Amino acid sequence: MSLSLHPKARACGKIILMGEHAVVYGVPALAAGLPDALELTARPLEDRFAPMTVRIPDWELDLRLTPDTEHPVARACLEVLGFCDGPITGWAIEGATKLPARAGLGSSAALTVGIARLALGPDADLETVVHASIAGERIFHGEPSGIDSEVAARGGLIRYVRGASVEPIPLPRPLALAIIPSRVPRSTADQVAKVRARHDRFPKLARPMIDLLGGAVDATIEAINANDLDALGEIMTIAHALLGGLDVSSPILDELCYVARAAGAKGAKLTGAGGGGCILAVPPDPAAPLLEAFEARGMVPFLVHLEPTPA
Ligand code: MEV
Repeated sequence: MSLSLHPKARACGKIILMGEHAVVYGVPALAAGLPDALELTARPLEDRFAPMTVRIPDWELDLRLTPDTEHPVARACLEVLGFCDGPITGWAIEGATKLPARAGLGSSAALTVGIARLALGPDADLETVVHASIAGERIFHGEPSGIDSEVAARGGLIRYVRGASVEPIPLPRPLALAIIPSRVPRSTADQVAKVRARHDRFPKLARPMIDLLGGAVDATIEAINANDLDALGEIMTIAHALLGGLDVSSPILDELCYVARAAGAKGAKLTGAGGGGCILAVPPDPAAPLLEAFEARGMVPFLVHLEPTPA
C-alpha cells in the first residue's frame, strides 16, 4: 500500500453521442470526452490516521471517508483507493469542476478516474485507471458498461464495445454540439433497470431497438466524417425515439428535443441515462437562435466544441 497521493489529477466529463443503454447489451456506442472537466488536488493532513476528506464545493460535496460511511460517493472513493492500494486516511482532496453533477455528463466517472490518478500518478497505465474507476462506478450502479470510465480517462471520441474494444475515432474537423440540462436529477441505476425490465418483458421488441441503436453508431461516425450535420441530427432524432421505446425518455426530455428542433437544431436526443439529465442537439449555424430559445425558458444551454483529433 502507498501512503501518499499525487498532488494533482484531471479527468474528462463525457457526452454519449450514440448507443447509451444499448451498450450495456454488448452493441457499440460512441462517446466524447469533455476535456479537463474535473481537477483534483491532494494535500497531506497533519494526522496521517485522520479520515480522508473530499470537498468539491461545485457539487456541494463535503465528505469524510470513514469506513462505516453510507454515502455512495464516499463509498465509491474508498472503493477506488482500495483498488489502487492507495492511502485511505491522512489526506484532504479538493475538487474544482464546471461539470454539473448527476446530469448525465459523467461526473461520477470523472471523480473516480480523478481519484484513481491521485493514487496511481500521472503515468499510470490507462487500463488500470479505468478498472479502478469501474470499481467505484459499481457503487452507483451495479452493471456499468465501462464507457463512462473509458472516456473520462481517455478523452477524445471513442467507439466502445463492452468487454471487446475501445477504438479512438479521429475527428477530421471541430464539431459543435449543444447541451441543454433539464435540471431534473435521475438515477442511472433506476434507468438501467427500466431498460432491463422492458427487455425482459418484450425481448422481441426491445432487442431490435438495442441493435438499431448499436447500428446507428457507424452511421453517426460516417455522418461526422462526411461533415453531414443534417444526417447527424436526423440519426440523433431517430435514436431519441428508440430510447423512448426502451422507456428512458421522459416528458421533459421529449419537450426539450422538440423545442431544440423548432429552434433550428438539426436533431436532438437525450444523452446518458435519460429520465432527466441533459439533451444533446446538433445546433444550427449560427447557434444563437437555439440557445436563445432555451434561455427564454430560463434554462442554461451551452455549446461544446469537440476538437479535431489526428487519424
Ligand atoms: C450512462 O452514462 C450510460 C449507460 O449506458 C449505462 C452504462 O453504459 O453503464 C446508460
